[in-house]
Amino acid sequence: MNIVIIGAQWGDEGKGKIVDFLAGDAEAIVRYAGGANAGHTIVIDRREYALHLIPSGILYPGKQVFLGGGMVIDPQALFEELRLLEERGIDWQGRVFISDRAHLVLPRYRKIDVDRDAVRKKPIGTTGRGIGVAYALKSERVGVRLADLDNGEALGNLETGDTAFLDQYRDRLLAMKTDMAAELYRLRGKNVLFEGAQGSLLDIDSGTYPYVSSGLSSAAGAASGSGVGPRALDKVLGVCKAYTTRVGNGPLPTEFDQKSQSALYQFVRDTGREYGVTTGRARRCGSLDLVALRYACRVNSLDALVLTHLDVYDTLDEVEVCVAYDIAGKRVTDFPGSIADLTAAKPVLRKFPGWKTPVTGTHTFKELPQAAKNYIEFIEEFTETPVDTVSVGYERTQTIVRNQIWS
Ligand code: GDP
Ligand code: IMO
Ligand code: MG
Repeated sequence: MNIVIIGAQWGDEGKGKIVDFLAGDAEAIVRYAGGANAGHTIVIDRREYALHLIPSGILYPGKQVFLGGGMVIDPQALFEELRLLEERGIDWQGRVFISDRAHLVLPRYRKIDVDRDAVRKKPIGTTGRGIGVAYALKSERVGVRLADLDNGEALGNLETGDTAFLDQYRDRLLAMKTDMAAELYRLRGKNVLFEGAQGSLLDIDSGTYPYVSSGLSSAAGAASGSGVGPRALDKVLGVCKAYTTRVGNGPLPTEFDQKSQSALYQFVRDTGREYGVTTGRARRCGSLDLVALRYACRVNSLDALVLTHLDVYDTLDEVEVCVAYDIAGKRVTDFPGSIADLTAAKPVLRKFPGWKTPVTGTHTFKELPQAAKNYIEFIEEFTETPVDTVSVGYERTQTIVRNQIWS
């Protein structure tokens, strides 16, 4: 069975935790988009691991992990991450493979990324990892792919310094090179997890352009960025928080008001530990935006939602969700493509009583407080998508499964 896990918001929904939770029953785990802009934090028995390029399944001994052709890979960041994993006792040798079609990120791309964002009239607030530059060069058809590393002719677009950089990594990278179409064909019939990075609203096509990343982080990217056709994907799960966060610039219609809601803002940020693992930036926080989430359900044909961070709301008297936007006096219930409309959008909020009970030790949906169940059931009704899994804490074990996922 092929299951895709995507972020259904603007990233950092807890994909890493969920992929790790599901990886135990998977034969292989495949990342298909983005690069070292991603940051996935996984907590197992109070030990915390931060991953950027390597699929979260690496923490399970013996699992094969693949970095797909839709990714842009910085060799320096890759080997640094592998070194850190090794230091933490994770044996990765012989089970990390990279698609021959993946593009490489060269050191100079990072500087170009930072410089270009700085001179923009309205900066995006990129992670400065050279991601947009690598995808732009890929589209211009002058990028550097792993498949071409041992082919001088295909590497004609290199500049001074690039060759010396690549020389340090060439042999180690080529040792991990693989043909993903063949590998995934070999794995047909087995359980394979496709691990999303970023989120559907950061996808270059379905996201809030231009305030997006440059890869295909939506479900569609799982096919094109790995090496199987879309009909081979059996299930798509969208991970979303019980609220909304975003790092970097761009519209966030439900963002808590910095003045009138400053205590709530700080509470959610601190309780949810909403600080980016890649850049350390504080994440912007707001109420759950159901207009945006329903859009993500539709454009990714989500089979189910995985709701994370429910515990963060444990002590609140009331919780709110956004059910429509007011844009210049007009009530809008479909997610707008126009950035001007999204920026002008005022959320129409619906209040729910809080549950005021810790859910962190809950193991079944039945045990959840009724007010929390009401909140979840409203999300299901509004998005017309079942919430199959609920995460009530960052530990692997703090996960409530309502319907068997691998079936
Ligand atoms: P990803 O990029 O989607 O993998 O998410 P990140 O790892 O960047 O951010 C999610 C953060 O929330 C991490 O620090 C996780 O350990 C943590 N987390 C995941 N699920 C939960 C949850 O249900 N409750 C709480 N409190 N934290 C969670
Ligand atoms: P994970 O996988 C949250 C955001 C950046 C910036 C925009 C473009 O951890 O969910 P880029 O460097 O990609 O060109 O930046 O996208 N961004 C993310 N935000 N989580 C991520 O990944 C992100 N990857 C990129 O903050 O606003
Ligand atoms: Mg993250």
